[in-house]
Amino acid sequence: MSLFDKIIDRKGVASSKWHPNYLNSLFSSEDVLPFWIADMDFRSPSALLDKIKERADYGILAYEYSPDSFFDSLISWVETHHRYTLSKENIHASPSIGSSIGIAIDCLSEPGDGVIIQPPVFMEYKNFIKNNGRKIVKNVLLENEGIYNIDFEDLENKVKVASNKLLILCNPHNPIGQIWDLETVSKIVKICKDNDVIVLSDEVHGDIVYSGNTFNGTLALDSSLHSHIISLYSPVKTFNLGGFTDSFIFIKDKELKEKISKSMKRFGLGKTNGVVRDALEAAFRNGEPWLNDLITYLQGNINLIDSKLKESGLPITFNRPAASYQLWLDFRQSGMAAAEVHTFLSQKAKLGMNAGFWFGREGAGFTRMNIASPRSVIEEGMDRLITNYE
Ligand SMILES: Cc1ncc(COP(=O)(O)O)c(C=O)c1O
Repeated sequence: MSLFDKIIDRKGVASSKWHPNYLNSLFSSEDVLPFWIADMDFRSPSALLDKIKERADYGILAYEYSPDSFFDSLISWVETHHRYTLSKENIHASPSIGSSIGIAIDCLSEPGDGVIIQPPVFMEYKNFIKNNGRKIVKNVLLENEGIYNIDFEDLENKVKVASNKLLILCNPHNPIGQIWDLETVSKIVKICKDNDVIVLSDEVHGDIVYSGNTFNGTLALDSSLHSHIISLYSPVKTFNLGGFTDSFIFIKDKELKEKISKSMKRFGLGKTNGVVRDALEAAFRNGEPWLNDLITYLQGNINLIDSKLKESGLPITFNRPAASYQLWLDFRQSGMAAAEVHTFLSQKAKLGMNAGFWFGREGAGFTRMNIASPRSVIEEGMDRLITNYE
């Protein structure tokens, strides 16, 4: 038995994923089996949990600074997983990826300016842009049989508009599970740089990469492009730490760094917390075997879903993700309209999955399924889907 097979009752805590109020508001039912928000039904690595216990036993949780050993562990993790080298000076601590996006939008654009996104994409981007009084500018992905590409012609046009100041790149891309390779990313950044548009590269899903795929962080690109790259990283997905409030902004360019630092100071950001930092250092140093086991387990879940769907003969397909723990299920051959798919899943099959159109209208006809659950739960979910399908 794998440690990921263990069922942990998450209703005992205020879990967003499992809370009846959330389920009711999103799926009009408390009884759905949840496969939605991007966290995992798994315990974090023992290395990290043991460190938290150790700190609790020590008992003093007051102000602390981040020692060099912490930076060394983070730099080495990024080197291994994102394939580039940072120095301590390149790193800013930030509460979350969301906060980092807000800070960047605030200091690198003016109200009314445009921020480019590439839907279907993580739905919160739209909120960060709107809540900062900026304009959402869409560079919609091109799709063919569930495989996506960048529409470079459209991107060229969008970056030429002088008021469009930023592009949020999601790599690996949530919800489609694809990794944009270095050549593609290089082309995106070059186009942006030529038109003085800054690329905010959200790499939060970059640690969970399936065998046969490679992820390179955007800062692995040639140094001539670094003046237009802000890389956003957090171990929040990797070690299942939703809301743990330690996330990082990586910048190599001095001028860009100064702009972001100034903005962070305005809001009193950049502090750390000793427990979180020690826990992360333990995970960066000793969490690799756990992460490898996690990826193998998730691969097993994908295989199970694949074979269940194939055996059932249902017209629901997916392309295997390169990264992260989301499946982008394609229901377009089902004959159901996008809203009907969501109603079928939540009301009939009693499954709580993210409707594709939550990621922009470009995701209509798809559903995102979070597969980071014990295999028996995945099995139950697939059985509900298949037996209720008519
Ligand atoms: C692409 C992407 N970015 C950011 C986040 C959220 O990160 P944070 O909680 O650090 O704001 C998520 C969460 O699902 C995500 O999928």
